[in-house]
Amino acid sequence: VYTQPITEIVRQRFSCRTYENRPIEPEKRHLLNRFIAETPAGPLGTSARFELVAATGQDLEALKGLGTYGFIRGATGFIVGAMRGKEDLLEDFGFLLERIVLHATDLGLGTCWLGGSFTKSSFAERIGVVGDEIVPAVVSVGHIANNRRSVDRLMRLVANSDNRLPWERLFFQGGLDAPLSREEAGVYAVPLDMVRLAPSASNKQPWRIVRDSSTWHFCLRRTPGYRKRRASRWWVTVDLQRVDLGIAMSHFELTARELGLPGAWQVAEPSIVKSDERIEYVASWVGQ
Ligand SMILES: Cc1cc2nc3c(=O)[nH]c(=O)nc-3n(C[C@H](O)[C@H](O)[C@H](O)COP(=O)(O)O)c2cc1C
Repeated sequence: VYTQPITEIVRQRFSCRTYENRPIEPEKRHLLNRFIAETPAGPLGTSARFELVAATGQDLEALKGLGTYGFIRGATGFIVGAMRGKEDLLEDFGFLLERIVLHATDLGLGTCWLGGSFTKSSFAERIGVVGDEIVPAVVSVGHIANNRRSVDRLMRLVANSDNRLPWERLFFQGGLDAPLSREEAGVYAVPLDMVRLAPSASNKQPWRIVRDSSTWHFCLRRTPGYRKRRASRWWVTVDLQRVDLGIAMSHFELTARELGLPGAWQVAEPSIVKSDERIEYVASWVGQ
């Protein structure tokens, strides 16, 4: 599906907030649309639908009304997604949309996940939400500009985007008190490295993974007060840290499969995780 190794694509991806003012070529739009049309159900069983809204000529008529409060400049497209409004399945949304992000990256395009800074009602209108559907997040897409604006640098600085938490704070063995070293992870060190490079809302990296022999339990460690802060309450409408978990799951699965490490997702909370108040269990990758 991807033309480059997934490890390369993951390393190339970054949150691109300034784009060249030139539309995405018809060929690339076609490839993206085809990939989007083949979106399967997520690992927890929910479906979501996605649409590429893109300018086709020099005029940006197609994007009229789709705003980003100035955080994004020059994007000539957006990938908009909608799903039935069940918060506890937002992981599937993150998983499925990140597959598309990685495809866009593989096509040489820049992307940026937007969970807060997008005009929600206009995007919802554009994708034609029905019933209890919600638009949890969107992704801007387009040609990467050479020059970064100062607002881009500021955003990266505020979110500390260039740094990731060290291994020992993310990956564990048997329980949260025993960090897992890269050596101990063996062949799984690479899928875990790819989790570490995943994007997350405000770069909070809420993923915690606990290994139990060949099973990898994916858990959420919430950033204290993240959704309660006044600014984020106004800005963010859904539980973005669940979306983050789904993104991490997609990086892990795609890398494991590429390395020939088969497995499947399963939801069965293990006792080692249940007993830990600091984390919420999400799902497990059961290696075969
Ligand atoms: C679910 C989600 C929501 C995000 N929302 C926004 C947003 O509203 N505005 C923005 O500028 N960046 C947003 N980001 C981008 C993050 O700030 C970025 O992924 C993080 O700082 C790491 O930087 P990187 O993507 O360049 O590796 C979001 C990322 C994710 C995964």
